[in-house]
Formats: sequence, C-alpha cells, structure tokens
Amino acid sequence: MSEPDQAREGDAEPSAGERTRPPLEIDVLTLFPAMLDGPLAQSIPGRVQTRGLATIRIHDLREWGLGRHRTVDDYTYGGGAGMVLRPEPVAAALAVLRRPDSVVILPDPGGEVFGQRRAQDLSERSHLVILCPRYEGVDERVRAMVDMELSIGDYVLSGGEIPALVFVDAILRLLPGAIDAESTAEESFTDGLLEYPQYTRPPEFQGALVPAVLSSGNHEAVRKWRLKEALRRTLSRRPELLAGRTLTKEESKLLASVQAELDETGNSE
Ligand code: ADE
Repeated sequence: MSEPDQAREGDAEPSAGERTRPPLEIDVLTLFPAMLDGPLAQSIPGRVQTRGLATIRIHDLREWGLGRHRTVDDYTYGGGAGMVLRPEPVAAALAVLRRPDSVVILPDPGGEVFGQRRAQDLSERSHLVILCPRYEGVDERVRAMVDMELSIGDYVLSGGEIPALVFVDAILRLLPGAIDAESTAEESFTDGLLEYPQYTRPPEFQGALVPAVLSSGNHEAVRKWRLKEALRRTLSRRPELLAGRTLTKEESKLLASVQAELDETGNSE
C-alpha cells in the first residue's frame, strides 16, 4: 500500500484562512539532534514545516557546554550512579532562546501527563522551547527555569527526545491546515471518546463483513452508528473517559441502548 499521508490535499498552498496566523515556532534543545531530524522531516510534521505552518529549530545543547570539552553534565552531589544535567548550559541556552511569548517545556516522567487538551493548548501558543535531558536527570535548579514539566506516561525513557517527538507530532497536526478539515471535524465529533471502528475494502475478509450501514449511503445512519460504536468502545475499554465528559442528549440515549444490548448479551464488544 502506498503511504497514505504522503501526497494529499495538504500538499497544496495554505489557504488564506490558514495564513492568518504566523507559524508556530519550536526550538528543541538536545544532545542528540539526529534523533529528531529524521522523524520531523517526514509525513505530517515535515509537510507542516514545508508549508510554513510551523518552524522547528533543533539545537545541540553542547553549543552552550562548559569549557574546551563543552561539558553539560556532572556527578550528582551526595553520591549515586549516573550524571546529571548542569544548570549553566541550560541557563545560557535559554538566555538566547527564551522570549516573552515562550513556553519552556521539560519532558520529565514526574510531570503532568500529556494529553489532547494540553496538545491543543500548546498548538495555540506562538513559541515553544523543549529542553531534552539525558543522563539520570537534571539539576533541581533547572526546573525553576522551565514553565512546565510534561510526562508521556508512567515509564522511564533514556532521554527527552522521544517525548519531545510525541509532543511536537501531537501539536503540529492540530495547526489549522495541517490535516484536512474533514478529519479534524470528525475527531471533534467524537471528542474525548475512543475512535469508532473503520473499514476499507474488501467488503468481506475471511468471513468478516463490513457493517451494512456503512455502504447504505445514508449519511445520518452512518453518523449515528459511528457515534454509538465510539461510545460502546469507550465504555468497554476506557470507562473513565465517559465519567469525565458531559454527554449530549443523543449520546446519553445511544449509551443507554449500548448498555441495554450489553445487559442482553453480557458481551462488551
Ligand atoms: N523522560 C524519561 N521518561 C519520560 C517520560 N515518561 N515522559 C517524559 N519525559 C521522560
């Protein structure tokens, strides 16, 4: 199969509406620029930059390292394994990069768990700086230099580069014009719910059929089916998402019918 997101409507020049806001600027500070260069040049992140919706600059933190060896890390006071990022290179880098409109982000497993709401918030800012630590962490005084610490989940990675890619990808696709308007509208239609099931050809695969409603041509019936299936999946897999969401009248009705079906069959999906 060809790459579905390589050549699409999004390759066209941005429309007048998309051009009304200046590009989102992102500066990333890392000791391993190559970890970011490749992924950010591909697919939607690459296209978003080519089209001028965002500008990403990747900086080698060693540029601000100390002495002849451009040192950025040191042993931890009190003893212990591993090296810790020193505050001076970070302070020097931020003295150059930080502006009044900047949001400086530190990826950290102890930070706020990154979610779609934070991605939306950051996509509306004008300048982000992401500081990627390596080693065993950062000198505590570095935390005072950042605006927020964000985690991508309860596991420990070997550095901040992969979290930075996660943030940037999630943020860039929310910029107006990054993906076609229809996809964004569809996402907001089931906002806060898990995705409804999707099908493509063939109509039958190893005995498994595409639900008839999807090829009925009845747009309203398709819309209702999708909403109901999104509710069913969310109830089955992530019920806590429903608890944190106000349901519309239609959603409550559809959820009640999912519940009734469950009571009948004892099956969740
Ligand atoms: N650095 C190491 N692990 C991380 C995580 N889970 N999220 C963000 N930054 C991290």
